[in-house]
Amino acid sequence: MTKRLAADAAGIAEAAAILRAGGLVALPTETVYGLAADATAGTAVAGIYAAKERPSFNPLISHLPDLAGARRQGLFDANALALAQAFWPGPLTLVVPASPGCTVSDLARAGLATVALRVPAHPVAHAVLEAAGRPIAAPSANRSGRISATSAAHVLADLDGRIDAVLDAGPTEVGVESTIVACLDGAPRLLRPGGIPRAALEGVIGRPLVQAGEAGQAPIAPGMLTSHYAPAARVRLDADAPREGEAWLGFGPETPSHPHALNLSPTGDLREAASHLFGYLRRLDETGRKTIAVARIPEQGLGEAINDRLRRAAAPR
Ligand code: TXA
Ligand code: MG
Repeated sequence: MTKRLAADAAGIAEAAAILRAGGLVALPTETVYGLAADATAGTAVAGIYAAKERPSFNPLISHLPDLAGARRQGLFDANALALAQAFWPGPLTLVVPASPGCTVSDLARAGLATVALRVPAHPVAHAVLEAAGRPIAAPSANRSGRISATSAAHVLADLDGRIDAVLDAGPTEVGVESTIVACLDGAPRLLRPGGIPRAALEGVIGRPLVQAGEAGQAPIAPGMLTSHYAPAARVRLDADAPREGEAWLGFGPETPSHPHALNLSPTGDLREAASHLFGYLRRLDETGRKTIAVARIPEQGLGEAINDRLRRAAAPR
C-alpha cells in the first residue's frame, strides 16, 4: 500500500526517513510531482526505474536544497553559476560535469561523467531535501511514457501500491517540468524547454542558447524520447475546431461549445495553460474519446515547453 502523507512537519519527517532508508516517495515540486529516492544509493534508484517501468536507465535529475549543496556534486562554470544564481530555487536543471566528490550514484547518472542538478522552489520539497541530507533523484512521478503527475491523485492513479508514500501538497504551480540546460563547454545548450522560458535564460548568459540536436551537436538528453507524455487517446495538434467524436483542448477566448471540451486558459495566459496542461490531458483522456484535438498554442515564453510536451503526446507510438 502507498501511504498518503500530509505536507506538515510529521509528513515531511516521515518522507525524509523513508528516503534515508532507501524507499520511494512521491514529492511535490513547483513543476510536477517527482518520484524521489536517495540518489547516492544505487538500489534505491533502481526502485525508481522499476516503479515507473522505465525501459532504460536514463539519467535522472538530482535535487538539492541549495546552490552550496549542488556545487559539491557538480563543477559550475561561469554560465552555470550565473544561471543558478538567477533562477534557483526554481524550475531550472543544470547538466554539469560531475565533481570529483560527487556522491550521486552511477545508476542515477546512467554512467555519464556529467550530473543533472536542480534546486526546486517548492517549500515542501525544500524541507524534505534539508531533512534527507543527501541528493535526491526524482523523475516525474508517472509510469514511463505517460502524462506527468501534477497532483497526488495523478501519482496514485499511476503508482499506487508501487511506491511507499506520496506527500500531498495539492496541485503543482508551474505544471510543466524544469528547463534543462547543459553547461559543459562554454556554449550552454537547451536540452529541454520547461518552466523557465528561453528568453529569460538568454538574458542572463547574454547569448543565444545552442539548440540541442542542431547539426554538429551531441545527441539530446537521453531521456527525451520522441513519444512521451502520451494519453491513451490520439492527439491532433494545431486544430481549428473539434471534429465529430473528438475531445477538445482549447486555448484563448474562442472555445467551441462542446461536451468534452476544456480550455487551458480562456484569457490566453501561457502560465495558466502550463499549470493545467497535464491535468486536462488526463481528464480528456478519461472521457474515452479516441482523439483529443488541441488548439494552436503560441510558441513564446512557456508556450515553447507546452508545445514540446504536446508534440511528444502527439508523436507516433
Ligand atoms: O521538473 C522536473 O525537472 C521534474 C521534477 C520532479 O524535478 N523532474 C523531471 O525528471 O522531469 P525526468 O527524469 O523526468 O527528466 C530528466 C531529464 C531526462 O530527459 C534525462 O535524459 C535528462 O534529464 N538528463 C538527466 N541527466 C542528464 C545528463 N547527465 N545529461 C543529459 N541529460 C540528462
Ligand atoms: Mg518525465
